[in-house]
Amino acid sequence: MLTATQLKPDVYWVGGVDWNARSFHGYTTEDGITYNAYLIMDEKVTLVDTAKCTHTADLVERISTIVDPSKIDVLVSNHVEMDHSGSIPAIMELAPNATIYTSAPAGLNGLKAHYGDAYSYQGVKTGDTLCIGKRTLAFVQTPMVHWPDNMVTYDAYDKILFSNDAFGQHFASSARFDDENDLNELMIQAKKYYANIVQPYGPQAKRAVEAVKGIGIENLDLIAPAHGIIWRSNVADVLAAYDGFVSGEVADKAVVVYDSMWHSTEKMAKAICEAFVEEGIPARIYDLKVDHPSNIMTDFLDAKYLCAGSPTLNSQMLPTMANFLTYMRGLSPKNAQRVGLAFGSYGWAPLGPNNVGKVLEECGFQLPEKTITRNWVPDQAFLDEIQAKTRAVIEATK
Ligand code: FEO
Repeated sequence: MLTATQLKPDVYWVGGVDWNARSFHGYTTEDGITYNAYLIMDEKVTLVDTAKCTHTADLVERISTIVDPSKIDVLVSNHVEMDHSGSIPAIMELAPNATIYTSAPAGLNGLKAHYGDAYSYQGVKTGDTLCIGKRTLAFVQTPMVHWPDNMVTYDAYDKILFSNDAFGQHFASSARFDDENDLNELMIQAKKYYANIVQPYGPQAKRAVEAVKGIGIENLDLIAPAHGIIWRSNVADVLAAYDGFVSGEVADKAVVVYDSMWHSTEKMAKAICEAFVEEGIPARIYDLKVDHPSNIMTDFLDAKYLCAGSPTLNSQMLPTMANFLTYMRGLSPKNAQRVGLAFGSYGWAPLGPNNVGKVLEECGFQLPEKTITRNWVPDQAFLDEIQAKTRAVIEATK
């Protein structure tokens, strides 16, 4: 028998835990995913968000431990994406008289495009409120964090912010609250979530964080996102972490990403990494044969330097590097502080590394050194030269 978890008197978590999920749109979820939904037992029985359709049965079972689902009067849909709206048809079949509250116009349009217009919908905007009894829910639209329709819902009576994707983490756990899990792990997961989901919309996320801070920390007992654990004892910490994420600030840190066929590009990557370390700049190497782009992006979120290396394969960069660069370019807004360095070996044409350099240029990164290429195998003299060029990049971008 599945159970509901009480957040506050008459407020419950009734979501689903997807222990086996290992990917979300190309983002590796090694620790699974949760789809959080919340039930508020007031004069109007209210459900905040639903769950992915794979977890409809879990959602309904958990709700049923508290109330007959047919009694639901209000369904707040903070976000159209199907990991949160996928169980709306099932809930509306059980509770056909419920009204769906969603952001206007994007939420209304999105839900109707997914599920038809037969349901009772009510569009809301920032500043709109809904009295459900003792409680009044306030809606704040947070467009493009990370879809046009996103909004958050604040319950002042319980001092709970239902933040949907914001402040979420892809992390499955049997413990629902932050203080019941390892905080360092949660912060890494929150950073990975931001880096891989929200990062392209930094300015919009910054406005959303300011709106949340405007509620006042003293009025935020809980931040209850739609993924992962609920922030209870570390609300200030996650807000501070988001301040850093949305700032777009980068630190003196280098991420060296490469793939290699016969270890020549690998030797170049190691030489570059070592040059950063010798200059006192933390650096880390990622081999695309074993490291996933979504984990690299977590590290790159606050890194100033991206060094990317590929040899030439059939007149192209290696497909692993093309995959990484496509993913990275989609996530990273142009950031004048970021610095790129492309490199790689080749047999008869340096097209692979040169194409890497073109992508870094298109990303808007500073490129103080032109792409470093090496015909066949680098010797020690060439590796020394690479290190000198890396030091020159550091010096030029201090
Ligand atoms: Fe968790 Fe944008 O959906």
